[in-house]
Amino acid sequence: MTRFPKLFTPMKLGPYMLKNRIESAPMGMHGTPEGYITPEGTAYYELRAKGGAAIVSLGESMVDSGGTSHGRVNPLDDPGILPSLINTTDAIKRHGAVASIELLHAGIRSGTPRPDDPVYGPSAGTSFYGKQIIEMGEAEIEQAVKAFGDAAEMAKLGGVQICMIHGGHGWLLSQWFSKLHNHRTDRFGGSIENRARIALMIIEDIRKKCGPNFPIEIRLSGDEFTEGGMRIEETVELAKVLDGKVDLIHLSAATFHDRTAGLRMFPSVFLPRGCNVYLSEAVKKAVKTPVNTVGAINDPAHMEEILETGKADMITLGRALLADPYLPEKARKGNEQDITPCIRCNYCISQNFTPYVKYPRGIVRCVVNPIIGREFETRFVQISSGKKKVMIVGGGPGGMQAAITAADRGHEVILCEKGNRLGGTLRYAEREYFKEDTKKLNDVLIRRVQERPIRLMMDTEVTPEVVKEIAPDVLIAAVGAMPIIPAIPGVKNKNVVLAASMYDEDAIGEKVVVIGGGLVGCEEGLHLAHLGKVVTILEMLEKGASDAPYLHWLGLMKELEKSVRLETRVKCTRITEKGVFAVKEEGEERFYEADTVLLAVGLKSRNELVESLRNCAPDFAVIGDCLQPATVMEAIHMGYFSAMNI
Ligand SMILES: Cc1cc2nc3c(=O)[nH]c(=O)nc-3n(C[C@H](O)[C@H](O)[C@H](O)COP(=O)(O)O)c2cc1C
Repeated sequence: MTRFPKLFTPMKLGPYMLKNRIESAPMGMHGTPEGYITPEGTAYYELRAKGGAAIVSLGESMVDSGGTSHGRVNPLDDPGILPSLINTTDAIKRHGAVASIELLHAGIRSGTPRPDDPVYGPSAGTSFYGKQIIEMGEAEIEQAVKAFGDAAEMAKLGGVQICMIHGGHGWLLSQWFSKLHNHRTDRFGGSIENRARIALMIIEDIRKKCGPNFPIEIRLSGDEFTEGGMRIEETVELAKVLDGKVDLIHLSAATFHDRTAGLRMFPSVFLPRGCNVYLSEAVKKAVKTPVNTVGAINDPAHMEEILETGKADMITLGRALLADPYLPEKARKGNEQDITPCIRCNYCISQNFTPYVKYPRGIVRCVVNPIIGREFETRFVQISSGKKKVMIVGGGPGGMQAAITAADRGHEVILCEKGNRLGGTLRYAEREYFKEDTKKLNDVLIRRVQERPIRLMMDTEVTPEVVKEIAPDVLIAAVGAMPIIPAIPGVKNKNVVLAASMYDEDAIGEKVVVIGGGLVGCEEGLHLAHLGKVVTILEMLEKGASDAPYLHWLGLMKELEKSVRLETRVKCTRITEKGVFAVKEEGEERFYEADTVLLAVGLKSRNELVESLRNCAPDFAVIGDCLQPATVMEAIHMGYFSAMNI
């Protein structure tokens, strides 16, 4: 008997009996230059089917390659997509999941890869990429409708069982729905019925071409969170028009039209879990069609509560299923404490978030899950060649991950930690109010270490002598880094505290100056402001937190604006008992009053310790911060692969 009966109550959708209420969100992965799905892409989708989601949706797929947004996405007007599409839907279906695909036309957001193509939209104006928008006449409308129908037919030929029409996020259909872009006065403009007309024509064309046993889901932005854009009241009216015409109404949020919309579309860590659930709740009250919700949901108990209280019928998970594709199966089996939580760092999406990053990286990676984007290659990692004695020095995220993976591969594992707690840098997250899931990640890793036959040696300073005594076959150094202390006069004063250390918060004064506005300085500064301190961050570069993934950076800057003074292009010259002297670019020295000065100028690897251990075992690996100051992602991924390579 499952602890989450609602979540695991099957649901009928057209001819399919969905095994639970979890849909894996459309999350595209770049394909070949033509946009075909690569074997890596197939394996990426397959893993989420294997993990137990009832529906696995392939990401943005173009109904008309002339109306593309990003390059390299599935072109559904090209039969060349079929072999890779069939392979992918086969891979999804063999795990009992239902294969879905997202049908998209970019409309006025059309850009690459055919920059010379005309750009069409509901009303004339300037397109997202600065081109003249051609107002669609009846012929262009017919053409777009036909393109959706034909694309669905192609998808069905490719083994797809359900389609999701993209009617949100500022793409073509939402341009028709939203008065932000639709200024027409004909039968396609004005009332919500008129603005929804093209969607109804598309639904009809898909039904005609794919038959009744091909369920249609439509993704809407419940609120565009943009001045002049759709609000939930209008979306409810739109949903009423769509009610009974589609099989599932899916409520996402925001529009790409607005730069900061990403913070709601891919909810940032500064927003509460399930921040968009109220949108599906409002729609659900008004329609009979089942309703799907999405956004910052990663906890099965929360999912159960959403279903139980009637706020949605289905839950879509995006990043949570990158962090742990096995979330559905772990929840079903009552093993939810082992779910790796998504920490909403937005690394996954920021790498490809054009035009805000210059070039999309074209691959997906997840900070907390080393497999993501490597599902295919990790199938070929060598089989362990017999049991080895593996000694890991350092119980931070990299060391713990190495120990867990080595134990899972059947090795004898010894994990040594010089302190009395595991977690390394993840432990600083415990105190930051917006890092609830990072703390959970640390707890999950610790639990995994404890559950395995790993010999834990806490309070153990590892020296070459200790290694010699244990005599491992493989030694992995994960000893971390230490804060850089810059040569600024006064740096050793009593009022100076090191960031990324376990300082005593009660000892921090009312006025704080943070020296160093990288990601660590900005996040710790924000946290101190949250505690009521008056915080000023001084950064030498042009931009604060320039090492943060774009969308996290955007969210962080918005939060800092509320309560923290961030000054860039400032160089600190000296620290006194009363504060910090610094020079701005113009060369004029200024004084920043402070009771406490927080030093956050970076880390340096513990090279000496690493070198002392280098020749102590037949095989030696260095991972994480002690190789070079690294991110949590680098630590976890290197930990995983250092153990996989044994
Ligand atoms: C890597 C990545 C790729 C995505 N690709 C798409 C996409 O192709 N189409 C789409 O409508 N949304 C896309 N999204 C948005 C997700 O479908 C989802 O709505 C969003 O991530 C919020 O859900 P979450 O908080 O559970 O991650 C993507 C999100 C991520 C993280």
